[in-house]
Amino acid sequence: MKSLITAAALVANVAAFPHFSSEKRGIPVEALLERQVSQPQGGAAGVPLPAVPPPFNAASQRVNVNGTYTFVAPGSGDARGPCPGLNAMANHGYLPHNGVATVAQFVAATTSVFGMGVDLATFLATYGALVDGDGVSWSIAGSPHVGIGGSHGNYESDSSPIRGDLNQYGSNTKVIISQFKTLYDMQPDAATANYNLDVLRTFRGKRFQESIDKNPYFAYQPFTGMAVSQAAFTFIYRFMANHSAEYPEGRLNKDVLKSFYSVTGDSNSLKWTPGHEQIPYNWYRRNTADAYTIPYFLTDILYFSMTNPQINSVGCNQGRVDSYNTIDAATLSNGAYTAAQAAANPVCFATEFAIAEIPSLTGLPATAVAPLTKTLQGLTSGLNCKAIGSVNQTALSICPGFAFYGGPTGPVAPGAIQS
Ligand SMILES: *[C@@H]1O[C@H](CO)[C@@H](O)[C@H](O)[C@H]1NC(C)=O
Ligand SMILES: *[C@@H]1O[C@H](CO)[C@@H](O)[C@H](O)[C@H]1NC(C)=O
Ligand SMILES: *[C@@H]1O[C@H](CO)[C@@H](O)[C@H](O)[C@H]1NC(C)=O
Repeated sequence: MKSLITAAALVANVAAFPHFSSEKRGIPVEALLERQVSQPQGGAAGVPLPAVPPPFNAASQRVNVNGTYTFVAPGSGDARGPCPGLNAMANHGYLPHNGVATVAQFVAATTSVFGMGVDLATFLATYGALVDGDGVSWSIAGSPHVGIGGSHGNYESDSSPIRGDLNQYGSNTKVIISQFKTLYDMQPDAATANYNLDVLRTFRGKRFQESIDKNPYFAYQPFTGMAVSQAAFTFIYRFMANHSAEYPEGRLNKDVLKSFYSVTGDSNSLKWTPGHEQIPYNWYRRNTADAYTIPYFLTDILYFSMTNPQINSVGCNQGRVDSYNTIDAATLSNGAYTAAQAAANPVCFATEFAIAEIPSLTGLPATAVAPLTKTLQGLTSGLNCKAIGSVNQTALSICPGFAFYGGPTGPVAPGAIQS
């Protein structure tokens, strides 16, 4: 279904973006990385960013949920998928209510509503349009092409925080209340609850192990596992937290968490209403000077991996629960990265792997996608990533759950454990 015309249209679309520049990143890449590298490994002594409290400006950070942006529940023709933030933006008119938007609309919405960095927003939107949309637009659930809901293995991934694994539950979009409850109960006191990066990295470790223990087809692939699945965790605090003069770095309490996940009730009566994700009234996003950029995201992954080193290598269950094996980065990248290099910069390894896979994912010749992959590479240029010339997909063939596409529903693997 892809054509050179859609690729050309996407190039034009991407070229229309304001150039993100280093000053827009908020904190210089070098400072972020240096700070991270100087952290003692092993967890307890490491402290997540920000190193200094960011500014707070109530007028610019308050997100309007009135007038044009009043919550409207989705109707039968509206796409709502596995990403709570995108669903919430479509419900409030920050994205088209039908859930299908252009790259420019995704970038405008994610930067203005959540304070995502232009670099990260452009990367995620461009990738979505190219790999899962029609080159110009893409859907937060299904058509055109497959949308996020059908992107299992290229964008949507196993071991998400709150949604089920595709082959464990037969759906990648369903909220699994037991998973939500695990996170919810990790902060028992509502008065002081704060689902920050510390809480989320513990939860990340639990969910990784839960996929090993319960999903016979658990596949932790280079881009979807090492990069996207981590984002699904870090984004919870980084994008859902409420900001204030008192807590300019953000604080995420129980009610705000439930609102963004369309969950109601208390710990023993939690209930999910599909597609009703809401931006809370009187909620304040990140400050623009503290935008969540690609380098910022990398420091969060490295913070997670101090206590969960397993997240920085690829692996899978081999058809049975608890049969998880890692797959060497050097084999996967035909020697471009050693396992240690991939673990030191998982964002580089993951994105370069994705970029190398784009021709086979899209069916377009490498020459046709070259301008786009250059754009994607430009967005991670601050990290000095080493290119992966060709990937060795044979190495992933030991994984029965290895996929490039699939979902939003699929077969439940024999031996899957649901809870
Ligand atoms: C804005 O929306 C909130 C949440 O629905 C509501 O409580 C509030 O009254 C509205 N304010 C105005 C001025 O309409
Ligand atoms: C966000 O924080 C401010 C300041 O503490 C508070 O007034 C507001 O109610 C909070 N918003 C939400 C949705 O909890
Ligand atoms: C590709 O992976 C397969 C399976 O692990 C391995 O046997 C083969 O040697 C690899 N190819 C290269 C060029 O490394």
